[in-house]
Amino acid sequence: MSNSWSPSSWRKKIVTQQPIYPDLVHLEETLHRLAKLPPLVTSWEIENLKHQLGEASEGRAFLLQGGDCSESLEDCETDSIVRNLKVMMQMSFVLIFGSMNKVIRVGRIAGQYAKPRSNETETRDGITLPVYRGDIINRSGFTESDRVADPELLLRGYERAALTLNFIRGLSGGGFADMHHPENWDLEFASDSPRARRYHEMIESITTSLNFMEAVLGTSISQSKTIDFFTSHEALHLSYEQAQTRRVPRREGWYNMSTHLPWIGYRTRDINGAHVEYFKGISNPIGIKVGPKFEPDELVELVEVLNPENQPGRITLIHRFGADDVARCLPPIVEAMQNSELKVLYCSDPMHGNTFSTNSGIKTRSFDKIASELELSFNIHRKMGSILGGVHLELTGDNVTECIGGAGKLTEPDLEIAYKSQVDPRLNYDQAMELAFLIADNMKSNKKILER
Ligand code: PEP
Ligand code: CO
Repeated sequence: MSNSWSPSSWRKKIVTQQPIYPDLVHLEETLHRLAKLPPLVTSWEIENLKHQLGEASEGRAFLLQGGDCSESLEDCETDSIVRNLKVMMQMSFVLIFGSMNKVIRVGRIAGQYAKPRSNETETRDGITLPVYRGDIINRSGFTESDRVADPELLLRGYERAALTLNFIRGLSGGGFADMHHPENWDLEFASDSPRARRYHEMIESITTSLNFMEAVLGTSISQSKTIDFFTSHEALHLSYEQAQTRRVPRREGWYNMSTHLPWIGYRTRDINGAHVEYFKGISNPIGIKVGPKFEPDELVELVEVLNPENQPGRITLIHRFGADDVARCLPPIVEAMQNSELKVLYCSDPMHGNTFSTNSGIKTRSFDKIASELELSFNIHRKMGSILGGVHLELTGDNVTECIGGAGKLTEPDLEIAYKSQVDPRLNYDQAMELAFLIADNMKSNKKILER
């Protein structure tokens, strides 16, 4: 890290995707308060995750990153958090069972509140207002006061993130995660789904094996009562992230203590821009979204700047090209990384390159395209001698109808039934589980190659 870096050095660079606050004094006071609040995560958890991501880059673990496109303050409620956690748990067990590999669970959760937008304003019926930028910044309603950037929301978001994380920690460290009680992760509405049946058969077999092992050993396998669950969000709102950037005793460097794994969005990847400047100086593992307009040379330069010591686990490339472009765009990127001998973890985001609007203007994604980008990504990496070591999904445990297709055969008219997302469409339980079985099959093939 250069001597000129500080948590605020990004302010000297060109910054994009930030809200304009009418009341700057209020903003400064709020940031000051935020900087004094206790951190959400710890440096040893962050280092632990970085270590595990390093393992994933070598095929010894697999990253399952998923959650809402954007969390909402209103949805910070018990049932919603539990349902999201249940889907992630169920998916991770499908992956583990299918591949016998370790799975690193990372939610887009407890802080995923700020969204990059393509336009600064939105026009409806001749009225133009600032665009909605996420619940930590302004409100999604379409009135002038809704769209004013309000510093209080930064505090509300931080508090909701803390509440969410507190609950997740309680659940994942206690009985909820106990493998002896898989019924804890059942989702009532999903009991008729064929995916749920396949999942239950699998769980029954796990529980039988567990009981068998315990009978043989004459002791309880206590490890199985706790699980790791990490958090991630797009570090977009830089003054908010700066307020959470701290030093810790007996460790070098600075940590963003609001999340374990912050990522750089596709729209804020400029190597000379403020976001990259901010990420240069933090010690967290970081994600970089990589889309079709990323030139391989540009990415090599960016990875070198962000990881000058070529530390494994530091960089996760989250590629999101779209099913139609992945075969053209991914190989040159992998080749460039290989030629420069850069250690990165590859993670496929099959969501963000596959979004389209229906004729009636609803933003959706087709399950077939999502599955196809995933399969293609696994195959391309296998062919090139690299490893796809993770997936990044937008999903929810709620029974929504936001993406079309999948075994439930959701069609465009079905989108009206339960479309709740304010931003991008998410996979529902059934669709997420279907993908999990597809991923598990691919992980199995990866493992066979690695064991050769
Ligand atoms: C997102 O992850 O919600 C997002 C906006 O992604 P991207 O930066 O890849 O477009
Ligand atoms: Co999104």
